Amino acid sequence: MLDLARAHGPLLDEFTESLVSVCRSGQFVLGPEVLKLEQSVAEYSQAKHAVGCASGSDALLLALMACGVGAADEVILPSFTFFATASAVTRLGATPVFADIEPATFNVCPASIESLINPATKAILPVHLFGQCADMDRIGEIAAESKLALIEDAAQAIGAEFAGRRAGSMGQIGCFSFYPTKNLGGAGDAGMLTTNDDELADKLQLLRGHGMRPRYYHKEIGVNSRLDSFQAAILNVKLPYLERWSQMRQTNAARYAELFKIAGLEDVVGLPETAPNCRHVWNQYVIRVRDGRRDALREHLTAAKIGSEIYYPLGLHQQECFSYLGNSYGELPQTEQAGGEVLALPIFPELTAVEQEIVVSRIAGLLKPSTDGHAIGKPKFLKYAEAAKS
Ligand SMILES: Cc1ncc(COP(=O)(O)O)c(C=O)c1O
Repeated sequence: MLDLARAHGPLLDEFTESLVSVCRSGQFVLGPEVLKLEQSVAEYSQAKHAVGCASGSDALLLALMACGVGAADEVILPSFTFFATASAVTRLGATPVFADIEPATFNVCPASIESLINPATKAILPVHLFGQCADMDRIGEIAAESKLALIEDAAQAIGAEFAGRRAGSMGQIGCFSFYPTKNLGGAGDAGMLTTNDDELADKLQLLRGHGMRPRYYHKEIGVNSRLDSFQAAILNVKLPYLERWSQMRQTNAARYAELFKIAGLEDVVGLPETAPNCRHVWNQYVIRVRDGRRDALREHLTAAKIGSEIYYPLGLHQQECFSYLGNSYGELPQTEQAGGEVLALPIFPELTAVEQEIVVSRIAGLLKPSTDGHAIGKPKFLKYAEAAKS
């Protein structure tokens, strides 16, 4: 699914040099590497400020704290997302209110958000899922009309754009994760917040360090969520390559579309779509497998030693831990349908054309085994393999 060694192999000397330099400096928490990363990520994300923290989950928590979300508040977020988007809300005693998604992009549906706004709503928390921004024009308008805080969960979408604006620069605060599977991944957990607001930047810096300023004088009840220098050092080495890696992911996505077409599978599986004014950075390439065949296809790929993953089998409104909210099945039909159909295929930058061809030919082997001219091993289909041979 993801072979990090391919990206990291050529960078090992750079990693060693910068990790040794952190050891020599003795500054293991925050310090110059973190400052450098904060400046670079702010610039890369078209934001005025960036504040490092310990993980994407903490970034969400800190963002909600900085916007004053508390026990009486509701926060609207998509049901179809990773758990951390909602748990940040419940950690503050607030209530997550789940919106449905747009079937074409898997991103939160603005009309669904609108229908859920009520006097208790404090914030909207759209997720830029799989590397593509949610409809930030419409969601921004909705937030402004109802005077709600707008926080972007950009954990999967560093470098993605909506109408020329970068993920993390469109809401009051953007939240990033540098978990190793992300497009910019560290060697462990790390996260970052972006904002264009000077006061919020200051508050986020305060909150991530126990609300302490000056030392041992606590202005607010914050948390310990500092970014460590080792992670920042690794990320500083990797960031200059991010743009190229995103382009390689885009090339791979386009090649999948071509290969699915050649295999005659275009109408058999649902291919992921890029919305018209979006720059998709393809953290995940997620197809839809209809007619209840998704799990069989996943087993078939696993047997062929091809990695795949189900992001996400259930909407958050269907999760046991949120049953106390009283959500019921059938409430968010697009989320529920997606949960039964989605399958993520390998899309990492260094994935080869031949490997992609093998993935698609294996899928064809199960879903379209008898199609003339497209069956596994037919030279017409395996054009990259043939080219590699010759
Ligand atoms: C959409 C989304 N939000 C939040 C997170 C949480 O990030 P982290 O794993 O760094 O805590 C993740 C990553 O796993 C994610 O995919």
